Amino acid sequence: MTSKLIAPSILAADFGNLQRDVEMVNNSEADWFHIDIMDGVFVPNISYGMPVLKAISQHATKTIDVHLMIVDPDRYIKTFAELGSDILTVHYEACTHLHRTIQAIKAEGMKAGVALNPHTNIKVLEDIINDVDVVLIMSVNPGFGGQSFIENTYNKVKQLKKLIEQKGATTLIEIDGGVTDKNAETLIECGADVLVAGSYVFKSTDQLKTISNLKSAINS
Ligand code: DX5
Ligand code: ZN
Repeated sequence: MTSKLIAPSILAADFGNLQRDVEMVNNSEADWFHIDIMDGVFVPNISYGMPVLKAISQHATKTIDVHLMIVDPDRYIKTFAELGSDILTVHYEACTHLHRTIQAIKAEGMKAGVALNPHTNIKVLEDIINDVDVVLIMSVNPGFGGQSFIENTYNKVKQLKKLIEQKGATTLIEIDGGVTDKNAETLIECGADVLVAGSYVFKSTDQLKTISNLKSAINS
């Protein structure tokens, strides 16, 4: 069995000590850096943008997983590739020509991800799943860290896992929002491969231990 992955969300980091928090992730058992980019239009919040990602990339030694919560993401695909993004995830709800967007991401040498809001049915991916490297299922409404996990996510993960198997796809399932030790193992049992964790990691007193415990729990 391939190992299940942890992606700490930098949105919950201490921006006054960003390099320290990036090094913490480098030295931890975490697998990816999850970077949330918000535009204040697609979601009702603005996070950080290109200069901050550039600074993170200069220190990060692990896969950089960028989650774009922005309208018209096609405008910035090349820029995010240049800034060091390894995986670029766009929202299904923000793309009129999703197939074209996915091809454009891959053409820049990145893995292509598609995120689904809590209200968006898995079925919308039926005709495109074989082209998608990662599906990010939002387990909260996008825009803010620290929200409560939506329980219907378990059903969605099971449905998506079934679709991936039916289509013979190799797509990874990533879960984002409200992930803690309370739901992590069930998410993996339902078929998840990657868990994003923001507040649960960064608000804990021993971040390295929190990551290590979560990693062992989902790989036992
Ligand atoms: C929310 C972001 C998440 C967020 C998760 O819009 O996409 O990545 O940082 O934070 P927690 O783990 O605190 O819910
Ligand atoms: Zn995210």
